[in-house]
Amino acid sequence: MLPARLRDARVLLVDDQELNLRVLRQVLERAGLANVTLTEDPYAVAPLVALHTPDLIIIDLHMPGLDGFGVMEQLRPQLDAAGYLPILVLTADVTDSARRRALESGARDFLTKPIDSIEVILRTCNLLETRMLYLELELRNVDLEQRVRERTAQVEAAQLETLDRLARTAEYRDDQTGRHVVRVGRVAALLGRILGLDEDTVRLLRLAAPLHDLGKIGIPDRILLAPRKLEPDEFEEMKTHTLIGSRILSGSSSSLLQLAERIAMTHHERWDGRGYHGQVSGDIPLASRIVGLCDVFDALTHERPYKSAWPVDLAVDEINRGRGTHFDPAVVDAFAELNPEDLVNPAESVPGTGGWGDRTGTEVRTRAAAAV
Ligand SMILES: [Fe+2]
Repeated sequence: MLPARLRDARVLLVDDQELNLRVLRQVLERAGLANVTLTEDPYAVAPLVALHTPDLIIIDLHMPGLDGFGVMEQLRPQLDAAGYLPILVLTADVTDSARRRALESGARDFLTKPIDSIEVILRTCNLLETRMLYLELELRNVDLEQRVRERTAQVEAAQLETLDRLARTAEYRDDQTGRHVVRVGRVAALLGRILGLDEDTVRLLRLAAPLHDLGKIGIPDRILLAPRKLEPDEFEEMKTHTLIGSRILSGSSSSLLQLAERIAMTHHERWDGRGYHGQVSGDIPLASRIVGLCDVFDALTHERPYKSAWPVDLAVDEINRGRGTHFDPAVVDAFAELNPEDLVNPAESVPGTGGWGDRTGTEVRTRAAAAV
């Protein structure tokens, strides 16, 4: 009698002799197997395997037309896909060459004709045990992979939330809503897409851009919140927020933080070299050229301690005036393609809010970060 856990196993019997099939089925059913399928037609085996997904196939080696070797050859793709699907070969040919050929064709074991019912049950039992262990292991692996994916997604979501809160912390003193950093991130992503960046890069830009002013955390209130034009020495101190921000973000192995570090350091550079640190045109990272423009536009169109909000059309004119001097001409041209609504209230229309889990791994993120 077979162990209870093997009794639901599905067995497919293939033999051109109907009598052999009946005898074999009787042996297996008496041993407790309830799902035994028979066929005398070797050409029907592949479709039956696809239909019934058996746990064991017992094949007669010598059949007219398509023999057992031919059947196993036809089954090759299904056997490969099944992982471990054992074949037990029935044969009266006990020569070494026949056995070797059968093994090479995919057979896992042999039954010599005339069959011995005890041997049939023992060999069937052995192969089914292995098959069930294989299936259990596969199920466990699937479960484990799912749990790893869920855990990874949770960790990545927590990392992104932390970065988001960090960006809002930096803005908190002069923008308690935290909307400035969100808008800059979103418009930067829209511009990146218009400029032809791939979706991985666009997403990185969307996530890194909000950290551009992280260094403001180190600027005193008397300067940051001054409701007037800054004195030269105050302005020099204000400029250090680029250094402070990049220092806070430096030394990370994360592609996202590395990009955020570059943006923090260079988002006040100008195309003509008259920015904070004197970098010129193509030497300024593209991400910073994009974020720099978004930052200026958003600052113009929203109230600050030292100024009221500009109308959008005036702010757009200001951006256009800076084409080729303050701003990269290509970025200004891309900016001109944005919908007016995207300028004032940019929607979350690019990937970036769902955590790293919906994208591929580190390699892609590294390549994407290197592009900007
Ligand atoms: Fe800034």
